[in-house]
Amino acid sequence: MHLFLADPDTAPFLADELRRAAPGSALRDIDGLGFAADVNLDGLLLAFARQTLPDAVEVHAASINAWADRIIESVAGIFPDDQPWRLHLWPQYGEGKAGQNRCELIRASLMERLKKRRRHMLRSLVDTDAVFDCHTSLVQGVLTSPETGWLSVAPAPRAYALRSLISSFPRGEVPLADDKSAPSRAFTKLVESEQRLGRQIERGQTCVDLGASPGSWSYVAIQRGASVIAVDRSELREDLMRNPRLHFETADAFKYRPPQTVDWLVCDVIAAPQRSIDLLIEWLREKRMRNFIVTIKFKGHDEYPLLDVLKREAQPLCAEFHLTRLCANKNEVCAFGVV
Ligand SMILES: C[S@@+](CC[C@H](N)C(=O)[O-])C[C@H]1O[C@@H](n2cnc3c(N)ncnc32)[C@H](O)[C@@H]1O
Repeated sequence: MHLFLADPDTAPFLADELRRAAPGSALRDIDGLGFAADVNLDGLLLAFARQTLPDAVEVHAASINAWADRIIESVAGIFPDDQPWRLHLWPQYGEGKAGQNRCELIRASLMERLKKRRRHMLRSLVDTDAVFDCHTSLVQGVLTSPETGWLSVAPAPRAYALRSLISSFPRGEVPLADDKSAPSRAFTKLVESEQRLGRQIERGQTCVDLGASPGSWSYVAIQRGASVIAVDRSELREDLMRNPRLHFETADAFKYRPPQTVDWLVCDVIAAPQRSIDLLIEWLREKRMRNFIVTIKFKGHDEYPLLDVLKREAQPLCAEFHLTRLCANKNEVCAFGVV
């Protein structure tokens, strides 16, 4: 049984997405958390799953030390020796800090026990949000009350193999970036996508920014040292328009073709979802970019099944393909990846 976490406002859309991906499989609604389902995870993409806990089991642990023992039992002898592993542990109950404090105490008890009995495991426990490599194992624990919850154990290379479903950020939550000098808050979407992908726009790279105005995506690319072709009907903020590494084109984003393959396509154009989906598939087929971050924007809630085409068509064209409703997204999802 796998556990798929939902945001409270998108749980019904995650349920629909799971039903479409695995018709006929039973979904168990875990109130306030998400859904448990026995579906095939290979190649599965779920835009509305905030995090996935593969092979999750329900746990009852009467005390902090019992939780620590339970976690150690579930990983000892299972995770490859002397290879890195990570622990994501968080509360999903109550208000205030009680749950958070309990998780910290469980973590402290676990460290104490490892120090006494399994020092090699303590040495290989790493604390980072970096994307998974094929050597890293992951244990996730979610407390639904002080004494109950779920544990999921993913020995290497499973977290890496399922990296389009399992976020390297605990609970799948990426803290929003902050930069008061950016032309708009939209830059948080670009930065979050980069973090989830584990790749940044880099110095010397080329970047096409479709639907670029007022310019916060171009601003990030320029700050990173890239050159940008910014395409929009409206100009970008004045300082960006003057930047020698930015070339502005007044053009229709859907008709624009780059003169040669670029390192990045970034696209945040306001358009019907089908148009943005078609644009991305066309750019992928024509191999016009090496990496991409594309927002798909929705008006209502009934257009989400359009994403199924994108999953089917785009994934095979990519070395890496992610489709996620970002923490920074409103009624949007973001497709990002490597061609
Ligand atoms: C959400 S804004 C982009 C924000 C931008 N990413 C930023 O960070 O500042 C969407 C932009 O898409 C542009 N747009 C909409 N349709 C377009 C089209 N067909 N061609 C070019 N730009 C278009 C709009 O003019 C608008 O500036």
